[in-house]
Amino acid sequence: MSQFKQAKDPVWNRLIQHAEVMNRPEKHLKRLLEDSSRLEKFSLKSANIFYDFSRQRVDEKAMDLLFELAQFRRLKQRFAEMVSGEKVNVTEKRPALHTAARDFSDRPVFVDGEDVMPSIRKVREDIKRFVSNVHEGNLSGSTGKPFNTVVVIGIGGSYLGTEFVANALQHLPDKKMDVLFLSNVDIHNFGKIVSIVDIERTLWVIISKSFSTAETMANANQVRTHIMEKGLDPAKHFVTVTSKGSPGDDPSNPVLSSFHMFDFIGGRYSVTSAVGGVPLSLYLGYERFEGFLKGAEEMDRHSMDSPERENIPLVAALISVWNNNFLKYPAQAIIPYASPLSKLAAHVQQLSMESNGKSVTKDGKRLDEPAGGIIFGEPGTNAQHSFFQLAHQGRPFPIDFIGVLHPHYTQYRNQSKGVTNHQELWSNFIAQPIALACGKVDANPAKSFSGNRPSSTLLLYDLSPENIGRVLSFYEAKTVFEAFIWDINPFDQFGVELGKVLATDIRKEMAKKNQDRSHSFENVDPISKYYMDTLFSGSL
Ligand code: F6P
Repeated sequence: MSQFKQAKDPVWNRLIQHAEVMNRPEKHLKRLLEDSSRLEKFSLKSANIFYDFSRQRVDEKAMDLLFELAQFRRLKQRFAEMVSGEKVNVTEKRPALHTAARDFSDRPVFVDGEDVMPSIRKVREDIKRFVSNVHEGNLSGSTGKPFNTVVVIGIGGSYLGTEFVANALQHLPDKKMDVLFLSNVDIHNFGKIVSIVDIERTLWVIISKSFSTAETMANANQVRTHIMEKGLDPAKHFVTVTSKGSPGDDPSNPVLSSFHMFDFIGGRYSVTSAVGGVPLSLYLGYERFEGFLKGAEEMDRHSMDSPERENIPLVAALISVWNNNFLKYPAQAIIPYASPLSKLAAHVQQLSMESNGKSVTKDGKRLDEPAGGIIFGEPGTNAQHSFFQLAHQGRPFPIDFIGVLHPHYTQYRNQSKGVTNHQELWSNFIAQPIALACGKVDANPAKSFSGNRPSSTLLLYDLSPENIGRVLSFYEAKTVFEAFIWDINPFDQFGVELGKVLATDIRKEMAKKNQDRSHSFENVDPISKYYMDTLFSGSL
């Protein structure tokens, strides 16, 4: 008997039946939107975010059934269990306490009988002190020059979220330093960075929970060699952020400073820990990092405390599952009408796809319904001029449109066609969901738009650190609520391991060849051998 369709989960079957109703012509979005109270019925405002799902393919009955599913799947209880430190990451037998990283209350959070909040507060205090010493020039590079650039060395969850936030806040004035990211092992990444930084004034923050990720270790070694070749002392230019007891948590290997990340905070959920805290505070100042944390904390509280029907991330998760499993859309786009949010889709792509791209339940049973969706996106209006052709007339996919009410640059007021640039941006931001939803009939099939293409709209007041924190927490909460519906564990990522293991075997073969040029790749499969021979011969 299937996982979801079995009798003990009858609401799932009723949702399947109702999805068939929603596929009827009278339920086309252009018909649903004839109801002038639709926005009022299908939107929420809370935690300083306006969330409009009036252009989703739902009616009252669909929402009622989805809320029944939320109750049946105990979404709110499971969120509370997560926040309270229960070992919700069952496969790795640990809690998932990213919410604790931005908890400013005095409530204890116990893990194995120990309150973890004092250690979390201490890391925040350590970051604050360290960052102020760097900014005031009390800590400097090995030639005594103050630092002017911080480079993050890290990949995946140890990088993407921080890059998203750094980009989102790059417009803020009085930034303290420049920030760059050395994530890819591709030598172009390293080569470009060293060609632009002043090495004497550069601080490198190695961020790795395991301190064994091949790309991060290769980049850290590359940087160390480069620093030494320049006659500088690496110990004065490196900072580490890693977990207690990792190979990088080694006092015999001196660094300027080191910070702990906790094993109960997963990489892709770690932006509000020291992972984001160290580089973002160096870049923007600690106070702004704290503002970002407080925004995330507010959204966490909203996710915890609001009833299901008023809970923005929970409603977004229900709609996402509705679209994925009942209306059968396999992909979803995130289109912020704000260039500073250009890295949001990449961050959510990892957050969502690494968390929920699973085929078994948390108890190891095979899922008979697909979990996880394909996430992609680019800022609008740029996206309109690239893949929106497919969005409007090709295979449909739901979209999250994100708008910002107040842009940072208010001083440029030139008008073109009677409107400012920001108004032009908003004209498009308002028009696209309507075009997708309502479509257009045309005698010429090539110019016809079928419509009925769903989207949600999220509005932010501005791009303050607090609002970026709210957006971050919104997507984290949405991701875990989805996982609770699918009954999967969103905190492990065994799917990334196989490729890493195979790369290890290939790396060993290449290392042998570097040692002994007569080594031939006889032990590898013929296709891999072809590529390895080609790489070593240098000719195509
Ligand atoms: O390969 C995926 C992954 O394990 C992510 O989950 C993690 O965020 C990233 O690699 C980096 O890992 P680490 O922080 O241990 O270097």
